[in-house]
Amino acid sequence: MVQEKIAKLIQKSIKVAQKNGAFPEIIIEHPKEMFHGDYATSVALVIGRSLKKNPMEIAETIKSQILDLEPDFFEKVEVVKPGFINFFLSQQSLINSLNNILKEKEKYGSAQTNKTVVIDYSAPNIAKPFGIGHLRSTIIGQSIYNIYQFLGWKCIGDNHLGDWGTQFGKMIVAIKKWANKEKLKDLSIADLEKLYIRFHEEIESNPDLEEEARVWFKKLEDNNKEAKEIWQTCVDISLKEFNKVYDLLGIKIDYVLGESFYQGKMMSIIKEANKKKIVVKSQGALIIKYPGDKLPPAIILKSDGATNYFTRDLATVQYRLKTWKPDLIIYEVGVEQSLHFQQLFWAIELLGWAKRNKFFHMAHGLYRSKEGRLSTRKGKIIHLESVLQEAIDKAKKIINESETGKDLPDKEKEKIAQTVGIGAVKYNDLSQHYTKNIVFSWDKILNLKGNSGPYLQYTFTRCKSVLRKSKTKINFKNIKDFNLEEKDILRTIYRFPEIVQEAADKFSPNLICNFAFDLAQKYNLFYQKHSIIKAETDNLKMFRLGLTAAVAQVLENSLSLLGISVPEKM
Ligand code: ARG
Repeated sequence: MVQEKIAKLIQKSIKVAQKNGAFPEIIIEHPKEMFHGDYATSVALVIGRSLKKNPMEIAETIKSQILDLEPDFFEKVEVVKPGFINFFLSQQSLINSLNNILKEKEKYGSAQTNKTVVIDYSAPNIAKPFGIGHLRSTIIGQSIYNIYQFLGWKCIGDNHLGDWGTQFGKMIVAIKKWANKEKLKDLSIADLEKLYIRFHEEIESNPDLEEEARVWFKKLEDNNKEAKEIWQTCVDISLKEFNKVYDLLGIKIDYVLGESFYQGKMMSIIKEANKKKIVVKSQGALIIKYPGDKLPPAIILKSDGATNYFTRDLATVQYRLKTWKPDLIIYEVGVEQSLHFQQLFWAIELLGWAKRNKFFHMAHGLYRSKEGRLSTRKGKIIHLESVLQEAIDKAKKIINESETGKDLPDKEKEKIAQTVGIGAVKYNDLSQHYTKNIVFSWDKILNLKGNSGPYLQYTFTRCKSVLRKSKTKINFKNIKDFNLEEKDILRTIYRFPEIVQEAADKFSPNLICNFAFDLAQKYNLFYQKHSIIKAETDNLKMFRLGLTAAVAQVLENSLSLLGISVPEKM
């Protein structure tokens, strides 16, 4: 990493510049404008302030130290008032980075560590449609998984299915009353949902249903055969439909340990909480009271003795800590559950299991259509599968109209349409910060000229097509001078490893999107202005092919971290 290397150089030279005194945090920025160099730091100002010395002098000392240590790495190091230092990488450094990309290929940007992370994502609910929120969680969670894995973390993906809880008592009652038991297996999630809605309608005139449902959930918890069978059928029906969505998205999650997995693992926790005196009885229920009432209390045992979502999440944490000994647990779950996770993380700290900074809730925002909130409630069911199918169909249209695409065999077109359509939906989600609400607009998602998945895939295929036409092995000698467009690509592309690291640290795949979009734009500008195959000299041609291959590689690496495949043609 170039940034890391510069940080180390600064660190070494500071020792000389300030002799003693507190070591400041070294912040290095990559200026947007090329004429400010590749990196800039204000560290001399910070030191100047703390030592009450002239920052310009300190900057000059740092500069000369660095140039002594690494004379060839920089074209120049510049000190500007009132004490900034700007670093300009030498042409050789830029070429070295380029060669490095061509050598490391799909590993370029990766790193190593022996840490472990558990990522809790997707987690749809049985007998309910796979919602838009679950789609977000699936897409973002998978990208986070890919990013951490690329950085060497051992990743454990866990799909915490909503497959347990009192609602299953209601479901069983509704099925027993209003569904054909012989044909249970043929029901769809939509049918199950209708039955659930009917239960809530009928309860208005028949309040006894409530008690019936409670009894049936109790039976389920006690392993009653009939209850278990009906429940299992609901799970099977739902998983069949969820798996269709996962197949379309090309996603497979390592573990599917739903809430039901934690039955029988909760009572010991209740006991432990009692013993550790972090719970009190309140109106028959057992609640965790947070010191100083900094959070509202959380129920861990209901007045009827039943556990709940919160208790199951506690058991889940305990299981994960024991089984995988993770350094970090990330929950990719909607913002509406923020309080739940705050309560959970604090409870874990109170129990003494782990510090709460071991946990992070990526609280994603809502999905909105232009007409308002996209909702799956009140029977207004959005069929996710049909949304994804529509994306594929729309992508097919684009391919049918494109220069290269229209003459491809149908089967290939189909495949590319899937890659482009699904990629577009994923990119649309990932390119915005996860906390933002997303507006769903087909025009934007599939815009071939804007910040979209198809635009990046298209740029990738453009690079690939150049490389196909050249048919030569890339091999170039030193280049004396870069033109502006070449330089702009070179001083962007070496930053990829830093961007990946930052995306992981800040849980922000959108940084990778921004980076890839920026790089693609710079390449397209270069492509329009300069000849590659017909460059003036053979060596220049080779260099530009090298640049093209590196851009293709870095775009591919970026998209792969986003869970988006690249087509060879489109
Ligand atoms: N099934 C839950 C829902 O749809 C999400 C579960 C998230 N994960 C967790 N460990 N609580 O609301």
